[in-house]
Amino acid sequence: MTDIKKPIVSVLLEPNWAASSLVVDVRRGLGSIPRSLPPKWLYDDRGSALFEEITRLPEYYPTECERAILRDNGDEIALLSGASTIIELGSGTSDKTRSLLDAFTATGQLERFAPVDFSESTLRAAAAEIAVAYPGVQVEAMVGDFTLHVPHLPQGGTRMVAFLGGTIGNLYVEERGAFLGALADSLAPGDSLLLGTDLVKDADRLIAAYDDSRGITAEFVMNSLHVLNRELGADFDLSAFTYVPFWDSRMERMDLRLRSEVPQRVNIPGASIDLDLASGEEIRIEISTKFRTDGIAQELSAVGFSVTKTWFDQDSDFAVTLAHRV
Ligand code: SAH
Ligand code: AVI
Repeated sequence: MTDIKKPIVSVLLEPNWAASSLVVDVRRGLGSIPRSLPPKWLYDDRGSALFEEITRLPEYYPTECERAILRDNGDEIALLSGASTIIELGSGTSDKTRSLLDAFTATGQLERFAPVDFSESTLRAAAAEIAVAYPGVQVEAMVGDFTLHVPHLPQGGTRMVAFLGGTIGNLYVEERGAFLGALADSLAPGDSLLLGTDLVKDADRLIAAYDDSRGITAEFVMNSLHVLNRELGADFDLSAFTYVPFWDSRMERMDLRLRSEVPQRVNIPGASIDLDLASGEEIRIEISTKFRTDGIAQELSAVGFSVTKTWFDQDSDFAVTLAHRV
């Protein structure tokens, strides 16, 4: 029997980094108009649990579409990537990734799995479970911010970076270009990127996926204000906000906002600011961009990747693209 390799967890965030970075983000995002917050602050323990609940909602199709793609094509992805290390960015529970781990261990090629996530508790739990389920694979988890820590990804062997779930769509267009460029710079020719992207589709289905009938997505987005109340001693009254999701057809993205229903002053002592919100004023909490296959190929080739193959689910709602660093 192969021995279980103890997972290694490194924390790339400086002590107190999360708190000081939240202050910077709050001052920058809420202190200017239009008001916004970066979506990484959605994923405290409660937010991560709510996201897991979202993935099980009947209206939220991306998770099951991507799961089917990875399950049906894991063997081919293993073969075409030739990778001995899988690095997963924004890995969360790495639940769907197990199809890849199964395929890559079946060929005997997988030596190392390196999940990277901002949410330390989710990451530690996933790393421990995967180390037990895949003995012989070295799990090297990193608590970090993928928009900052791409230059610190593990080196050596042939690497495939998996960025799944459509999380790339949560980056603004300029952040996305910078992120893909930094990722390409950190990889060597022969390494690859496996990118999950949600595709442009009928607005009604998109709105249903982000405005579910049980209100879980509203609770998830509203959780960002809980985070500010807890971490920065803010006094957001959640009952004074309404969740406003809409499809921006020009930018081809869902835009998820919270609208202040009354004129109000919010104190955020931890960031030393007071926020005056007019009635009807909105705070953008997250975008979720949807893609077209030709656009994905163009964005990848602009930074030095060449598409090897793209797989779709049976209704072509979601795409998974393997691209090699040239
Ligand atoms: N890949 C999983 C989880 C997607 S949810 C899936 O496909 O289901 C998005 C994940 O990315 C969360 O676990 C969140 O904690 C993480 N995340 C969001 N922004 C991040 C950032 N800037 N750096 C690192 N992790 C981030
Ligand atoms: C993690 N990310 C891809 C999700 C999405 O669909 O954009 C986050 C999410 N936000 C609301 N529902 C799901």
